[in-house]
Order: sequence, then structure tokens, then C-alpha cells
Amino acid sequence: MQQDASASPMTMSDRADALEEQKMHELEHIVTKSVLFNLADGKVATESGAALMAKNPGKYMLMGADPRLPQMPDKPTLVDYFRCRFASTAHLLQSATHALKAGHSEKVVLACLLHDIGVVSFIRCDHGYWGAQMIEPYVEEEVSWAVKAHQALRFFPDESVGYGYPEMYVKLFGPDYKPEPYIVAEYERARNHKWYMTSRLITINDIYSFDPNAKVDLNDFVDIIGRNFKQPKEGLGLDNSPSAHMWRTMMWPTRFL
Ligand SMILES: [Fe+2]
Ligand SMILES: [Fe+2]
Repeated sequence: MQQDASASPMTMSDRADALEEQKMHELEHIVTKSVLFNLADGKVATESGAALMAKNPGKYMLMGADPRLPQMPDKPTLVDYFRCRFASTAHLLQSATHALKAGHSEKVVLACLLHDIGVVSFIRCDHGYWGAQMIEPYVEEEVSWAVKAHQALRFFPDESVGYGYPEMYVKLFGPDYKPEPYIVAEYERARNHKWYMTSRLITINDIYSFDPNAKVDLNDFVDIIGRNFKQPKEGLGLDNSPSAHMWRTMMWPTRFL
């Protein structure tokens, strides 16, 4: 529909903000955005609690589940996060399926299954580090180490195992992109590490050219998860591991505090 600019002085972004605000008013509680969400919109900003209370008389801040998101069970498992919080799982499932078909160990299959959970559930920047930290208390050290190191290894070829620099990265980042010095240093450490090949296998099984017709199913990995991921009895995120707060944040991303 053609909009007459003079009749409608609001910009697209103003209109989106207004709609978002209207939707917020329809909720029982006040839902607010953390600074990080605003940074992603190009704004260094946050709204104070007092201002939000004044705009929403009679309402309290949201301090639990966001009713707009899929409801999580009382004691969530990793599989529940896959189903309710991971924005896309096809890439993870395709990579893990590839590793499974190649006959790799369950450790490697799990590492492939979890290698990009940082991207699909949390944040893109430094996703290997975030993902590794999230899973570290619940998996063998080799698995979380491999997830962390894939952040750097994917940028560096290893012709001895047939891994070249991904064509897709040339398309995504341009031909002149060079990884930052911290990534180069991480690569050099990883290259000489005893678990180098575990992380290298993540990059080898990483499916860069996404196949929309590939048949993948999370159910194929439930047993591998069961044997290799230490599910806390309180629920993932409701335990007291060093990364439980990260899972809770994913469960309740708009909790006020
Ligand atoms: Fe990745
Ligand atoms: Fe990946």
C-alpha cells in the first residue's frame, strides 16, 4: 500500500515502535528491552523503571515468563530449549547428521549438534565462545573446547583433511575479510592442542551450503543427548551451574531484573 508521506509523518521505525508499544500495553505486565536489544537497533538506550511504570499505570514489571514466547516446562531440558527457544535448528541437525553418517564418535556428533547454539539462541558475535560457555558444565571438556575453538578454526584451511576456506565466507564477508588478531591467536593455540581434530571435525561437518530438502529430525539425537549431556535434575537453567544464568536468560529474556 502506498503511504502519503505528508499525511503520515511517522517513519517506518516510528510506526514499528508505536505498534510494539501498543502490543506491550495489551500485556498484563510491563515487558521491556535490555540495553543489548536496543544496541542491536542502533540505539544506546534503556528506559527507566519509573518511566515505564508512569506509562503503564496499574501494571508491574514482568518478572518471569514472557507470555508472547513458547511456554517452557517447569524443569526444562536441552531438548525443550531446542523446541522452544532455538530460532532455527536445521543447520545444527544437518551438521550432526553429517557427522553421524560419517561414523564419528558421539562426542563429535554432540559437538556438531551444539556448535552454533550461540547463534540460534543467543547472540552471533563470538558465538563459539558463548556456546562453549553455555554447555561447559554439562558436557565433556573436549566437547565444549571444540565448540569454542571452531570460532577460530573455521577461518583457517587445513588441506590435510580437505577443509578449505568456505566459499560462503567470501560471499558473506567479502574477499578482503581478515580475522582479527585474537582469532588468529586462538587458531594458533588450537592448532597445537591435543583436541584440535575434534574441533576441526566441527568445521568439516559444518554444512555451509544449506540443503532445504534434507530430512533431519531432533528425535534422532535424543539418545545421544541423553548419554552425553548432563541434564540437571532441577531443569536446565534452574540449577546452580556457572552457566545456568545464561539458560535462564534465554528462558526469560525480558525479565526486568
Ligand atoms: Fe559456527
Ligand atoms: Fe555452523
